This record gives sequence, C-alpha cells and structure tokens, in this order.
Amino acid sequence: MAEIGHETRFLHAIEMGLGAWQWGDRIFWQFEQGYSEGEVHDAFKVSVEQGIRFIDTAEIYGNGLSERLLGRFMRETDQPVLVATKYFPFPWRFRVVSVPRALKNSLERIGVESVDLYQVHWPTPLMSVDRMMDGMAECVKNGMTRTVGVSNFDQTQMLTAYSALARRDIPLASNQVHYSLLNRKAEKNGLLARCKELGVRLIAYSPLEKGLLTGKYDAVRRPPGTRGGIYGGMLSKIEPLLKLMTIIGQDHGGKTNAQVALNWLICKGALPIPGAKNMRQAQENAGALGWRLNEEEIARLDALSDKVLE
Ligand SMILES: NC(=O)c1ccc[n+]([C@@H]2O[C@H](COP(=O)([O-])OP(=O)(O)OC[C@H]3O[C@@H](n4cnc5c(N)ncnc54)[C@H](OP(=O)(O)O)[C@@H]3O)[C@@H](O)[C@H]2O)c1
Repeated sequence: MAEIGHETRFLHAIEMGLGAWQWGDRIFWQFEQGYSEGEVHDAFKVSVEQGIRFIDTAEIYGNGLSERLLGRFMRETDQPVLVATKYFPFPWRFRVVSVPRALKNSLERIGVESVDLYQVHWPTPLMSVDRMMDGMAECVKNGMTRTVGVSNFDQTQMLTAYSALARRDIPLASNQVHYSLLNRKAEKNGLLARCKELGVRLIAYSPLEKGLLTGKYDAVRRPPGTRGGIYGGMLSKIEPLLKLMTIIGQDHGGKTNAQVALNWLICKGALPIPGAKNMRQAQENAGALGWRLNEEEIARLDALSDKVLE
C-alpha cells in the first residue's frame, strides 16, 4: 500500500458520506413529487449532526440545483462540511480551460471559494484523460480545489489519471464507482485492490442499490419511476440476500438492512455515500457507523450475493 500523502489523508479518515443527487433531481428521483426541499434539508441536518460531513454533489444534479441547495444548507449550519463535486465535459467543454471554468461556476452555485474534492464524473473518448488532468491540475494550482478525484474510471483510465497527476506532484485522491452488495465489479476486477495499493480512496456510489437493499421493495411493492423498469427482474432474485441481511442485522441488536449494506462496504474498505431523501432515511443510514460486521458474516453475505448475481 502506498503511503497516503497529507493532502488526501482526510478522505481516508472519512467512513461514510452523503450523496446529494436526490437534491433537485426531478428526472430520476422525482424531486418535489413525494419529497421536498425541506425534507432534503432535514436529511442534511441530521447527517451533519451525526458526524457525516462529506457531501457528494455534481454540477449536473438537478441542473445545478443540488449544488445551490448544498450551499444554502451549509450557510445555515455552523458545522464544518466537506464538499465534493464533479465535472463532465458536456456540452462541448473539452478544453483544458473548460475544467477550471466549470469549477468556477460550481463554486458560485455553492457559494464557497474552494471545494475539498473535484472529480471527473465520467471518462469520455472525446477528451483525453491527460487533458482532463491538466484542467484538474489548474484547479489545484488556483486554489479552487484541495484534491482531485475521478469517477467511473476503470483501472487503466485510473492509472493514466494517477500518472498524469503524479507528473505534477498531485496525488489522485479517489475513484467513485458503483459498488454495493448487488454490484461487486470493483471488488472482482481488482479495482478496489488497486485503489488500496495506490492510496486512492474508493468511493462507493449507489451503496443501497438505489433503495433495493433496504428491503422495502419487492416484486409486489416495486420502486417508482425508472427504477421499476431497471430493477424489475432483480427483485424476486434478491429475496434470500435481503433475508440474510435481516438475520445478521438482528444479531447486531436490530440493525436494519440499509445499515448492514453500508457497514459491509465500510468493512470492504470503501467509503459509501448513500443518498437520503428525508430525516428518517438519513438517521437510519447514520446507524451504519459505530459497529462492524465480523469476518464470518461478511463471508456469508459475499457468498449469497455471488449466488444472487450469478
Ligand atoms: N458518480 C456517479 O456516476 C454516480 C452515480 C450515481 C450516484 N452517485 C452518487 O452516489 C449517491 C448515492 O447513490 P444513489 O443515489 O444512486 O443510490 P443509493 O444511495 O443506493 O440509494 C438512495 C435511495 O435509496 C432510498 N433510501 C436511502 N436511504 C434509505 C433508507 N434508510 N431506507 C429506505 N430507503 C432509503 C431513497 O430512495 P426512495 O426512498 O425513493 O426509495 C434514496 O433516494 C448519489 O446521491 C450521488 O451523490 C454518483
């Protein structure tokens, strides 16, 4: 394992964060249909109170509204908050200078002078990783971000980013990828191990598999909107896994399926960033901290998730 530099050490000390895609997104999450700005504000407040201070947003979430809401919520708390946001080169922002320009707009929306982590949202063949990292390095040099991360990068793309930044003495802080008990690609293809080796923090998005792992959806109670279509076929298959999670949770004094799902990721060495739409969800998710699954429980969960994913 590489020695972790002082610039990125803070990320390795964070066990869990909060995802803010839900804040303002009407297309996938149906913001303001079933949940409101007041409710996501409560989710933020509860998380911060519980010590969850790392918030993940993106310029694209709610077309900038997620960043605006985050800024508004941050101004109403005296607690320190760590901000991670993201850049994606569309529409037509493929130049090196496009990156600091995009960050400048994000900073204005959030109302801060710099963020703690600036991430490339997705790799794209339309802009080389080297050029993206040139832009990211500019952002560090200008004091607009403390650290640089990537998201949805495979091992090869991540190593290219790592080397491009290393040439400028900037460490690659993180790679944010889909990782949950129902999506273990990062674990199986060696990405998680490579991240650990390089001292890159693996941030796990969709850690609750968009609500599926909480156990509240099944073949009858299907998730609303797009999720019903995406996950329709999976719901009956995952029942045994959900049951095992419940049994294991009971052995830990009544931990819920959501808490087991998040704790499993923490035990794997990832940093989960569950999205929460309200106070109740945020409170429950915070209960994933302060305890640990044991090795035998992790092995049982691994084995059953393998079977479900076959
Ligand atoms: N980098 C990327 O490409 C990328 C992609 C996706 C996400 N992300 C980031 O990762 C974060 C989390 O991922 P995600 O939002 O896709 O999925 P997730 O965290 O797996 O699931 C979040 C959803 O699950 C439900 N939920 C959350 N906590 C719950 C609880 N305790 N009990 C019951 N239901 C609960 C809520 O939806 P319902 O109540 O409607 O069921 C919530 O919107 C995002 O907010 C975003 O910051 C990044």
